[in-house]
Amino acid sequence: MVPAKIFILTGAGVSAESGLSTFRDKGGLWAEYRVEDVASLAGYERDPARVLEFYNLRRNSHRDVRPNPAHVALGQLQRAWAGRGGEVTICTQNIDHLHEAGGAENVIHMHGEIGKVRCHDCGDVTAADGELSLALGCGACGRIGGLRPHVVWFGETPLEMDTIYEKLAAADLFVSIGTSGAVYPAAGFVAAARSGDIETMEINLEPSENAFLFDAARYGKASEIVPAWAAELIGQM
Ligand code: OAD
Repeated sequence: MVPAKIFILTGAGVSAESGLSTFRDKGGLWAEYRVEDVASLAGYERDPARVLEFYNLRRNSHRDVRPNPAHVALGQLQRAWAGRGGEVTICTQNIDHLHEAGGAENVIHMHGEIGKVRCHDCGDVTAADGELSLALGCGACGRIGGLRPHVVWFGETPLEMDTIYEKLAAADLFVSIGTSGAVYPAAGFVAAARSGDIETMEINLEPSENAFLFDAARYGKASEIVPAWAAELIGQM
């Protein structure tokens, strides 16, 4: 049966072929940096300049990247499904904007977005293009030095969790793409889907830590597997 509502979770693997580093693969970001130094509230409170520098480097690496065929195929699938009254929800752990650049809409960025800053004091979130620095002031409350990247750090609650669980519970098919399944709560979505009798599928370069929980799996490069899978689904419409 063709699923009417599809919930797609993506991770760093979907953007790897666009040139963005993953986290836990060989040579990934967490081999070079300590999470507790650059991606935790304690690390920020200890050395905010160092954390801002880490995210400035990441902002630079994100600047010229382009969507790959996996992002484009997911945008096409979303439009095709909307056109027949169905729904494709794209929920990403990625802070890049490659799903949107590939044509997807209403993407849920559960770990935040690299192109935005948040005031550590008043919580105001704004788009920001330039370098982050302790000299910047918040446009809403005026405090200088409190603008942090709008990304979720370890120990913080991911964003939009109510919407995520609502969309996941309403889905007929859950598909996990390019994620190692190492970080919760995203790593728990497959178990939540199973307990709701939702079909599950994993697309990844290799079996993830949760591979045994999925009903189906396709392994290989996202840029090849995702377009082929999306074309198959669209063909069944
Ligand atoms: P990981 O680096 O943990 O996992 C990336 C997965 O993508 C691995 O299982 C790879 O095998 C797979 N992969 C790599 N290249 C691929 C390709 N071309 N096609 C398909 N799959 C490929 O990244 P995430 O699972 O996204 O959180 O990590 C989750 C979270 O951990 C991130 O959002 C980040 C990180 O710490 C925060 O910073 C809060």
